[in-house]
Amino acid sequence: MKNSRRDFLGISIMLGLSSLVNASPINGLMNIFPSEKKLKILILGGTSFLGPHQIAYALKRGHEISIFSRGKTKPKIYSELFSKIEHLIGDRENNLTALKNRKWDVVIDNSGRKTKWTEDTAKLLMDNVELYMYTSSVSVYYPYFGDDFSETRKVVTEMPKDAADNEKRTYEYGIMKANSELAAIQTFGKDRAIIVRPHLIVGPGDPTDRFPYWLARIEKGGDLIIPGGTDEVVQYIDVRDLTEWMIRLAENKVAGVFNGAGPGFALTTNAFVHGIHANYNVPINYVQIDDVNFLSENGIIGIQPWVIQLPKYAGMSKADTTKAIASGLTYRSLSDTVNATKTWWYSDAVSQERRDNILIGERSFMRREKEILEKWNKFKLR
Ligand SMILES: NC(=O)c1ccc[n+]([C@@H]2O[C@H](COP(=O)([O-])OP(=O)(O)OC[C@H]3O[C@@H](n4cnc5c(N)ncnc54)[C@H](OP(=O)(O)O)[C@@H]3O)[C@@H](O)[C@H]2O)c1
Repeated sequence: MKNSRRDFLGISIMLGLSSLVNASPINGLMNIFPSEKKLKILILGGTSFLGPHQIAYALKRGHEISIFSRGKTKPKIYSELFSKIEHLIGDRENNLTALKNRKWDVVIDNSGRKTKWTEDTAKLLMDNVELYMYTSSVSVYYPYFGDDFSETRKVVTEMPKDAADNEKRTYEYGIMKANSELAAIQTFGKDRAIIVRPHLIVGPGDPTDRFPYWLARIEKGGDLIIPGGTDEVVQYIDVRDLTEWMIRLAENKVAGVFNGAGPGFALTTNAFVHGIHANYNVPINYVQIDDVNFLSENGIIGIQPWVIQLPKYAGMSKADTTKAIASGLTYRSLSDTVNATKTWWYSDAVSQERRDNILIGERSFMRREKEILEKWNKFKLR
């Protein structure tokens, strides 16, 4: 058993599999081997979406975990694992006492919502922790003009004078993330900072209804609107692929800035929707609505899948994944993501109220879909 990892690598090379590292069986095999080096990991956060998945994978890899949060949010997934880790209580706003005079190999900053929070924890931990991993976002690239969304793209770090009122919140989030990245890099240095910029994160435990909406919608069947052109692309990242890769980046001490997006090839909106449909046995009549004015007039800009037909969003799903894949990011299939999300969606971790709300809640697009289809049928005849 001791040599199993080495044996596996040998077999992989023999079979010429090393170039197929993205294939999911390989991903599965990588996941069962404990890491050779045991790490002491501190997660700032830990109890919402990314945290529980990081904890589950890190424990499986043999690492030791501490988390730091206010103790308000109770984990809804992997809750049975929380008795196996240390839970430090404090508040990033004004109480970091529990983090003082402690040593870890790596800190993963998931809960960074203000640049000052990251500045403060980075300064406090710089002499006691080797690596600072900051969970950023592809939102640092807003506005998404053009085609080049590699990690070297210049990002906005202050509010542009001409920012419209209705885009200021979007700018603020990206600017906060960009400045927090800088705080981590400047304090820990380029060689000790790992910056991960995830795209929209999906999968079990998702606190948003963005992806679950599509599962619930497709399960319902019938006339279904696909907004946008047939060739528009969609990106997302399965929370398990993202978090497992983050732990491996820490194990391998791979400093740098990385886009965390998938699925590693250009997936069109239609392929995305049909890929989900393949997991349900229900008849659907797809209706493509590609008229931007119609979509805009009827408030369909930004419904999921999340192609937003505005110039400032044109490149949102063009995050370059070359560097991430080279550093070990692997992808599950869309079907795997769908089925894991489906299992979680119908488990006790999700309330019936939430499940109902997605179908009939006041803001549910499903409530308006029939009326919009009628309007669209008339609009086409104009
Ligand atoms: N969802 C997406 O699609 C997406 C996309 C790109 C990037 N991101 C980024 O991914 C990260 C998501 O993190 P997550 O919520 O899943 O992380 P997590 O590590 O699972 O949980 C974050 C925890 O932070 C704690 N927290 C909140 N305010 C705090 C405070 N003032 N002091 C101490 N702890 C505090 C909360 O627990 P308590 O309430 O108990 O304190 C919360 O449970 C965020 O940085 C987000 O910007 C998300």
